Amino acid sequence: MVMNMAIEKIDHIGIAVDSIDTWIGYYRDVLGMEYGGSEVVAEQKVRVALLQIGESRIELLEPTSADSPIAGFLEKRGGGIHHIAIKVDDINEALERHKAAGARLIDTEVRTGAHNMKIAFIHPKTSGGVLLELCQAPH
Ligand code: CO
Repeated sequence: MVMNMAIEKIDHIGIAVDSIDTWIGYYRDVLGMEYGGSEVVAEQKVRVALLQIGESRIELLEPTSADSPIAGFLEKRGGGIHHIAIKVDDINEALERHKAAGARLIDTEVRTGAHNMKIAFIHPKTSGGVLLELCQAPH
């Protein structure tokens, strides 16, 4: 199998919080990150706030309902780093590569995430205990 896919960079780190309104002040005003607004991703039952510093980004993730995966994470872990997102130039190929390697997946198909990115989550059991998000910019 010929692999043409390129892995580009760490796109962002997702941090689970109980309330974006509570925590945005620290990241924006104290740390001084640039706040890029927030949006609700209904499918994932989450509100996402984007913060930028140079090339690097942080997503603050707030649950929008009690059955949100983020609500479950907060209950179990009390907040903190939720996932690390890896940007690739061909997410379909990246996902096929994971399947071929027998990796455990959260998403077996590519779906649409915040900012219209194409995304797929890889199970922490595959990656040494951290939830990974593969992402590709929309064209
Ligand atoms: Co993310």
